[in-house]
Amino acid sequence: MREFGNFRTMEYRDGALRLIDQRRLPTEEVYVECRTEEEVAEAIRSMAVRGAPAIGVAAAYGMAIAARRAAEGSPGEQREALERAAALLAGTRPTAVNLFWAIERMRAASRESRSSGLKLADELLALAEEMHREDLAICRRIGDIGADLLPADVSLLTHCNAGALATAGYGTATGVIRSGFRSGKVRQVFVDETRPFLQGARLTAWELCRDGIPVVLITDSMAAYCMRLGKVGAVVVGADRVAANGDVANKIGTYGLAILAREHGVPFYVAAPISTIDLETPQGGDIPIEERPAQEVRTIGGRMIAPEGVEVFNPAFDVTPARLVDALITERGVVRLARGERLESLFASPEGR
Ligand code: MRU
Repeated sequence: MREFGNFRTMEYRDGALRLIDQRRLPTEEVYVECRTEEEVAEAIRSMAVRGAPAIGVAAAYGMAIAARRAAEGSPGEQREALERAAALLAGTRPTAVNLFWAIERMRAASRESRSSGLKLADELLALAEEMHREDLAICRRIGDIGADLLPADVSLLTHCNAGALATAGYGTATGVIRSGFRSGKVRQVFVDETRPFLQGARLTAWELCRDGIPVVLITDSMAAYCMRLGKVGAVVVGADRVAANGDVANKIGTYGLAILAREHGVPFYVAAPISTIDLETPQGGDIPIEERPAQEVRTIGGRMIAPEGVEVFNPAFDVTPARLVDALITERGVVRLARGERLESLFASPEGR
C-alpha cells in the first residue's frame, strides 16, 4: 500500500520532544528540541507546532517532561510541578479544545497513579506515547470514513492545514484527501493560502506535493470564483473545537467558505476526532477565539506590507454554524449536522463518554 505523509511531525527521544518547525516550512526543514515544559509551551504559543490534535499531543509530552524533571523532588513537589506545567501549557492557545483534553487526561492519570518519582514520569511518558499512536490511528479511520462520502472523480477545496503536520500524522481533512486519493476518487485539491499564517500555502501544499497529490494553490479571495466556475466538488476542513450544538470553530476564513459552499450547492465537510468535540460548550458563540499579534497581518514572511502601526484585527479562528456543515466526519462515524442530526449519536455507543 502506498505510504503518505512520511515525515514525523513530532518525536520524543532521549528526554526531548523534537518538533518539525512549522514556522520555517516549506523553505527549510529544521527541527526544534524541547527539553523543558517551558520550551514545549513556547513551541505551541509561537506555532512551531500547531493544529488542534498536534498541540494536544505536544502538551501531553510537555507534561511527561515536567514529571521527569521533577522526579528527584518529593512526591508532593513533583505533583506541584505537574500542576504548574498543566497551567503553563493550558495558557498557550485558547481555542483548540484538544489541548485541554490532553492536559486533563495527563492530570487524571497522575492523580490516579500511586507512583511517584521516575516511575510516575515513565507512566506519563507511556500515556503521551499512547495518545500519539492513538491520534495517528484515529486520523486514518477519519480519512477512510470521509473518503467513502466523496463522489467519484472529485475536486476538493481545503483551508489551512489539517494534515499530518497538524496531527500525529496523516491528518483529519488531509486524511480524507489522502484516503480519497488512494481510492481513486480525488482528482485534485485546491488549497487556499490561509492568510495571515499561510498554513495552506506553506504547509498543506507542501504535504500534498510530497505525496504526489495534484494540488492547485489559490489565494483566499479566489474560492468564490472557483466555485462559480464549477471547479470545486466538495470542501473539507478540520476543526479546533466543535460545540455541543455542532457549531465548528476552525481557522479564520472557514465560515466564509461554508457560506460560499452553501450558495454554490457544494457539500461542506468537517473532519475532526472525538477529542475536538466539547460537550461542555453549548454553542459556537461560547468558544473562546484567540487573537494573534498584529504583526502577523502587517507582514508576509517577515516583510512589512502595511503602514507601520496600522490598526489590525487578527482573530485566528471563526465559527461556522452547524446548519452549514453537511457532515461532521469523526472516527466513530458521520453526523449530518445540516440535516439536524445531533452529536449525541456519537456518544450513544458503549465507548461514548
Ligand atoms: O492556528 P492553527 O494553525 O493551529 O489552526 C489550525 C486549524 O485551524 C486546523 O484546521 C485545526 O486545528 C484542525 S487540525 C487537524
